[in-house]
Amino acid sequence: MGRLSVDLCGIEIDNPVIPASGTFGFGYEFSEWYDINRLGTFSFKGTTQHPRYGNPTPRIAECTSGMLNSVGLQNPGVDMVISEELPRLKSCFHKPVIANISGFSLEEYEFVARLLSEEAQVGWLEINISCPNVHGGGMSFGTDPKAAASVTEAVRKVTDKPVIMKLSPNVTDIVSIAKACEDAGADGISLINTLQGMRIDLKSRKPVLANTTGGLSGPAIFPVALRMVWQVSHAVRIPVIGMGGITSAEDVLEMMMAGASAVQVGAANLVNPYACLEIIEQLPSVMDRLHIHTLRELIEELACLRSKQAVNGH
Ligand code: SIN
Repeated sequence: MGRLSVDLCGIEIDNPVIPASGTFGFGYEFSEWYDINRLGTFSFKGTTQHPRYGNPTPRIAECTSGMLNSVGLQNPGVDMVISEELPRLKSCFHKPVIANISGFSLEEYEFVARLLSEEAQVGWLEINISCPNVHGGGMSFGTDPKAAASVTEAVRKVTDKPVIMKLSPNVTDIVSIAKACEDAGADGISLINTLQGMRIDLKSRKPVLANTTGGLSGPAIFPVALRMVWQVSHAVRIPVIGMGGITSAEDVLEMMMAGASAVQVGAANLVNPYACLEIIEQLPSVMDRLHIHTLRELIEELACLRSKQAVNGH
């Protein structure tokens, strides 16, 4: 067991730095840059029942310390993912992968989850109930505890693999949604997806994005993500995977100190394809500086502290 290894909902991974869905394709695209087996795992492109072309362009806008996207869940559909993307991935990645799933109805979530759960290389299902860029699905399931619980239950009943619910920050009470997912059978919570935002072009006086609004990611959202990871990890007993604006090993450790058992890195991959690898390489020296022997010890020590605080009513 290495210094960086962590437990992700019952499966050991070599390190906690996980490329986030939508920023790493189906993995093999990045194997042109480096051996992606250096990663513990990654979350592949959000997959729906049918192929989707996504939203009209422009669907990216740059901001200070971040970016807006309004991709609209573009993906080849579950059949193509199973027949083409996963076999291609198998040739260059020899570890379990996180299947990220989106949907527009309970039936769709259930259908895609059942199919992907049968794939040997799929280790975890990450259920996206937080996409802010589509109508009638995505985030609408993640802004209401009852709806979030219904999706969790629908997926839970078709798989024995760990189910991780990916939550939206565009809510007033993230804790109630996380707890509803835990009570409905989730094995883990990942957060945060992007924050809804927009930009206007000064010359045309019109929104920059064709979809008007998009999701903000990047370093600008790190403190918001950290606050929500803190709140959720103090309220649930299942592992929390922190994400939102992580760009360095220090950010990873800060997320862990907020309660995360692992982290996902998103926007940074779009700026630098080596971002995750560089963070993994930086971690040991930053841990030395902070007198952290192993990540497992850090996570366990913090979890122990949280349960003591809960007993004492803090
Ligand atoms: C998108 O495809 O619009 C982004 C996915 C997400 O934010 O969940």
